[in-house]
Amino acid sequence: MAEAMIEFQSVTKQYQSGQAAVDQLSMSIDKGSITVFVGPSGCGKTTSLRMINRMVEPTSGTITVGGKDVTSVVAADLRRSMGYVMQSSGLMPHRSVLDNIATVPRLNGVSKAEARKRAEELLDVVGLASALGKRYPSQLSGGQQQRVGVARALAADPPVLLMDEPFSAVDPVVRDELQQELLRLQRDLAKTIVFVTHDIDEATVLGDKVAVFAVGGKLAQYATPEEILRAPANDFVASFVGRDRGFRHLAFTASDGVAVHPVTTVARDASAAADGHWRLVVDEDSRPLGWTGPGTGRDLIPGGSLFRAGDTLRRALDSALSSPSGLGVVVDNDGKAAGVVKAAEVLGLIESARQVRRGNL
Ligand SMILES: Nc1ncnc2c1ncn2[C@@H]1O[C@H](COP(=O)(O)OP(=O)(O)OP(=O)(O)O)[C@@H](O)[C@H]1O
Ligand SMILES: [Mg+2]
Repeated sequence: MAEAMIEFQSVTKQYQSGQAAVDQLSMSIDKGSITVFVGPSGCGKTTSLRMINRMVEPTSGTITVGGKDVTSVVAADLRRSMGYVMQSSGLMPHRSVLDNIATVPRLNGVSKAEARKRAEELLDVVGLASALGKRYPSQLSGGQQQRVGVARALAADPPVLLMDEPFSAVDPVVRDELQQELLRLQRDLAKTIVFVTHDIDEATVLGDKVAVFAVGGKLAQYATPEEILRAPANDFVASFVGRDRGFRHLAFTASDGVAVHPVTTVARDASAAADGHWRLVVDEDSRPLGWTGPGTGRDLIPGGSLFRAGDTLRRALDSALSSPSGLGVVVDNDGKAAGVVKAAEVLGLIESARQVRRGNL
């Protein structure tokens, strides 16, 4: 059994008479995991999230963090001890990116120089160029602003990260990048993350566990994504999860049968290919950097998502479809280029997997 970090015990929030915003919520959130609250608008996701750091006080029930009743901690201290990322990045418009990131460490008494240094490191951690540190939030793209929001939430190195629809204001491509980035970060950081979204796809991609909320603030199902897709607890969850579960199931279908083909690699400073074939550009450790190919001259075309042996069919398809060459880059456990997968072949496997499933129905 995983260790519990956050526990809701019969927690109810009633803003006014009538229907509760959150109704008798009991759940245990595992330490070091990503737990996603998902559900339609108004079902109490934000309210539940905000009760964890006492931005909202429950009407009844108890919430503990690390075994401690949150009401025993001064609300301001509690808030500062957890990272919080919201939908609009919530950055202060008149302060530079670095100053925004350094805010909470400064409030915690860290020296200005130290806080700045940490802020600079965090820019790198969330994949932003250091030159962006001097800019103001309005001079960044939406996706960049969200990355700054994540950096700011991480600045005090809190064990708990609360994220309320942090990626919903950016376009789907950037959103996908931010999701992958968060998963990558989490592999190193192992924070306890509570993530709110209304998007079931985002929930199943990110969540170690997913809590589906129904209108009226009732917890409809709390389980692994795989279980929620395979065995929805009731009609509400089934309809919320959607009819095209066949495709979503791909996220859990092993990619064992996918053929890995050899790929021609070249060093970064090699002269451009003149023969019209795509070549994978790698660094001195054979790690993929991007592609050169027909008409690209000496420019490096960024490479799309990577695929590892053992990943799912969905990841295999993503890697092929996001690559400029139509070839998904396969890397080994050291991140070295190990070959490519072809979109047409992955799609063929998906189709046969679908037919097998149909045959089983
Ligand atoms: N400050 C408030 N005062 C009164 N009612 C509120 C307040 N905040 C939220 N509510 C009500 O509580 C219910 C739950 O709201 P909450 O913001 O938690 O939903 P949500 O699941 O986060 O929705 P969304 O997906 O739209 O963000 C809603 O009916 C909402 O109108
Ligand atoms: Mg909300």
